[in-house]
Amino acid sequence: MQALVYHGPGQKSLEDRPKPTLKLPSDAVVKITKTTICGTDLHILKGDVATCKAGTILGHEGVGIVDSVGSGVVSFKPGDRVLISCITACGRCDYCRKGMYSHCTTGGWILGNRIDGTQAEFVRIPHADTSLHPIPEGADEEALVMLSDILPTGFECGVLNGKVQPGSSVAIVGSGPIGLAALLTAQFYSPSEIIMIDLDDNRLAVAKRFGATATVNNADGDAARQVMTLTGGRGVDAAIEAVGIPATFRLCEDIVAPGGTIANVGVHGIKVDLHLERLWSHNVTITTRLVDTVSIPMLLKTVQSKRIDAKQLITHRFKLGEILQAYDTFSKAADSKALKVIIEA
Ligand SMILES: NC(=O)c1ccc[n+]([C@@H]2O[C@H](COP(=O)([O-])OP(=O)(O)OC[C@H]3O[C@@H](n4cnc5c(N)ncnc54)[C@H](O)[C@@H]3O)[C@@H](O)[C@H]2O)c1
Ligand SMILES: [Zn+2]
Ligand SMILES: [Zn+2]
Repeated sequence: MQALVYHGPGQKSLEDRPKPTLKLPSDAVVKITKTTICGTDLHILKGDVATCKAGTILGHEGVGIVDSVGSGVVSFKPGDRVLISCITACGRCDYCRKGMYSHCTTGGWILGNRIDGTQAEFVRIPHADTSLHPIPEGADEEALVMLSDILPTGFECGVLNGKVQPGSSVAIVGSGPIGLAALLTAQFYSPSEIIMIDLDDNRLAVAKRFGATATVNNADGDAARQVMTLTGGRGVDAAIEAVGIPATFRLCEDIVAPGGTIANVGVHGIKVDLHLERLWSHNVTITTRLVDTVSIPMLLKTVQSKRIDAKQLITHRFKLGEILQAYDTFSKAADSKALKVIIEA
């Protein structure tokens, strides 16, 4: 089968690999119909993710059709259409029993990281019963690819952890797919203001279309001042960090209002300063989270009922044989205006 293989920092290739087989009774093998590329795949290619070894097939998002199941799988059978969670969960360990699937002792984020992922014709899914979701009859499968990672991440790590409430003020730093997913799902709670911050005017224009009440371009580094002006000097109740660099976490520290929350979503590769000399008296909460994908069933309903239009995040479409082009397009988002790219296997 064709697969996109990571060969160490800066190196990847599309190559022929054997079709995966069942290893444990709880496994399923899924034939991928649609997958996509995540900002985190680009982090891996930069060499930021030490757990991902050369030779691993990338990808942790996608939908497909069950090809085979192990003897222990009870909820799925060959032919079933399924949505793949980016997080693998046994459902039984202490962390899973708390709903913290991201820290499952025999799962967590392993797909396209510690084990072969979804950017291939077939993928082996461990703990299939608790890591796959059935796709409802008639669902738009392209839209559902946004539920493997992007929408639950924006919602769980950004909106839920940021305690977004009716009438609250929100700033989202980073208007990439994750920041935009937080923007879409923050609107479940009717906040009064959602300020989107980025360096890319195209992404800010998209944010405006998706419901941002204001946008701030941080190209000259003075977003904090602009946010303070927009909020009458108060700052925001929820500052959501969706970039993953020290400057943007610092920005969140500068714009969080007394009593507010900084919800970190970004994957950080280097240390970040915490300004407790200012924040100690501000009654702020700082949260971090690896997405658990516990919200997939709920978000699936909101996509099905058209409360959110997940498909708006898709800008480009490719075949699996063109995946190197897809990577190129996705990694040059400022020029290509790419958000999420769909890859059809
Ligand atoms: N916590 C989790 O479980 C989890 C899950 C998935 C992704 N992530 C992380 O979330 C982050 C966002 O993901 P994405 O796919 O949207 O990434 P992305 O790279 O597409 O988007 C980041 C955006 O930040 C903007 N940006 C960069 N520097 C900036 C600055 N100084 N000021 C304002 N904006 C700036 C960029 O222009 C870009 O639009 C990444 O770090 C990703 O690895 C975390
Ligand atoms: Zn991802
Ligand atoms: Zn577990």
